[in-house]
This record gives sequence, C-alpha cells and structure tokens, in this order.
Amino acid sequence: MLKPTIDREKVLKALPSIKSFPNVPKVAVPIIQMANDENKSFADLAKVIETDPELSARILTIANSGFYGFKRQIKSINHALVMLGWNAVKMIALGSTILTRMCAQDRATFNHSMRTAQIARFLAMEANFYKVEEIAVVGLLHDFGIIILKMYFPDEYMKALQFSIDNGLPLHIGEREILNVDHADVGGWTLQEWDLPENITESVAKHHSYDPYSYHARKTAVIHLADILATAVDVNGPAWEKVPEISASALETLGFSNSELKDMLLTIMKMKLDPLIV
Ligand SMILES: [Fe+2]
Ligand SMILES: [Fe+2]
Repeated sequence: MLKPTIDREKVLKALPSIKSFPNVPKVAVPIIQMANDENKSFADLAKVIETDPELSARILTIANSGFYGFKRQIKSINHALVMLGWNAVKMIALGSTILTRMCAQDRATFNHSMRTAQIARFLAMEANFYKVEEIAVVGLLHDFGIIILKMYFPDEYMKALQFSIDNGLPLHIGEREILNVDHADVGGWTLQEWDLPENITESVAKHHSYDPYSYHARKTAVIHLADILATAVDVNGPAWEKVPEISASALETLGFSNSELKDMLLTIMKMKLDPLIV
C-alpha cells in the first residue's frame, strides 16, 4: 500500500490564510496581532473585543461566573479587563474565537478540547503556574491539527484513523505510521503560519512528543498530561480510543509524584465540564 505521507509543505499549501479560513470571526486577526504586541493597552483590546458582540458577551459571562467569585457584577469589557487582567482576557478571546465557531461541526474534538482546557487549568494551578488562562487556551487549541487534517486531508486522515482502530493504537501513533506526521505537528505548523505566539504553538506541536529541554517544557508537560487525563476520564469517548502513555519525564518536570497524580485524577473524575472558556 502506498502511504499518503504528509509534510509541512503539503499542509501549508492546502491551508488558507486565517482571514479566509471558514468560520473564523473577523475579530480573531487583530486579537492575534495584539497577542504578539506588548505595547497595546487595555483600551486597544477592549475596542477590538467590543466589535464582536458574541465574544463580548462570552467574556462577561466568564468574568461573572462563580469561578472568579467577584462580588460586584462586571458589566463592561473594560471592567472585565481590569478585574481579570489583560493576559486572561486576551487568551480567552484568542482561544474562544478560533475554536468555538470552527468546532461547531466536530462535537467530539470540541468536547475533548474543552475538557483538556479545564484539566490543564487545574493542573497548572496545582503546579503553581502564574499564567493559568494561557495554559487553558493551549489546552483548547491542542488538537487543532485534527480539525485541519479532517478538513484538508480527509482520505489520509481516515486511513490513519482506521489503522489506529484496527491496531489498537492511540491516534497520533497511527498517524505517524501512515502519514509520517501526527496531528500535533500539523496543528503547530498551522498556528505558526497564522502568527500565533510561540508560547502557544510549541506546546501544541509537542503535546505528543514531550521534550524536557524545549523552551516551554513546563507548559507542554501540563498539556501533555491534561490531554491524556481528559481522554482517560471521558466516558463518552469512542470505544476504540486508546489512552496514550504518560511521559515519566513530563511528570518529573512538573514535580508530581504518583500519589499526587492519583489524588488529582480523583478530583478530575468528579469535575463537571464547565464552560469557563467558551
Ligand atoms: Fe492530540
Ligand atoms: Fe487531545
């Protein structure tokens, strides 16, 4: 059988620019530009967010959710920016604009991404991370490569999926066997091409090939672990789905012992899927 190999060049050739990608709202482009520009102010970001009523409503819902526990109701985007911080709102905006509308047709990937984001946020807090929202957004986007493969390489993707099912392999291993790449590579290339910051793209690209020496290793370790735990606790996931192995070196990077991991898993199993981000 001739293998339908995919590489970076093929992906970038098939990929439209973010501006013409189906269902990406207009507001995503200036938000991405701002995510790379340290000089932009609260007012600049608020102005851009307010051009999209759906996104504005989502940010206010999140700001007023029980998770943050603010006593006063937050009524404006400016107020939300002051209370949540620039980084949190920027990341909520970025993750939710890109993913929400895009995943409308793919509920399984969408639910898994939400669950991973929620678990990533929990693990990041347990590991004393400072930028928790940023990690949640990476969790939200980590399997973006699956969406790209399904959209632009459906035949190749189906072959890899079938191979994984037939051989009882985790999807990314089946993809590597058949396509020579996995969806993590594809997601990383795509988000890089769309100029998302490297602190997001690196962890997306490496979530199935954890490298303790990479620049954002601690963040990638959280995403790697959150993804696997999200798959392990998902009772509605496909029956064929094989849970990937946890990298011992990722656990070591985060300083989690086996008994801590067991306790965290018990907490995660009791978590309700909460739409904190989208
Ligand atoms: Fe993945
Ligand atoms: Fe995943």
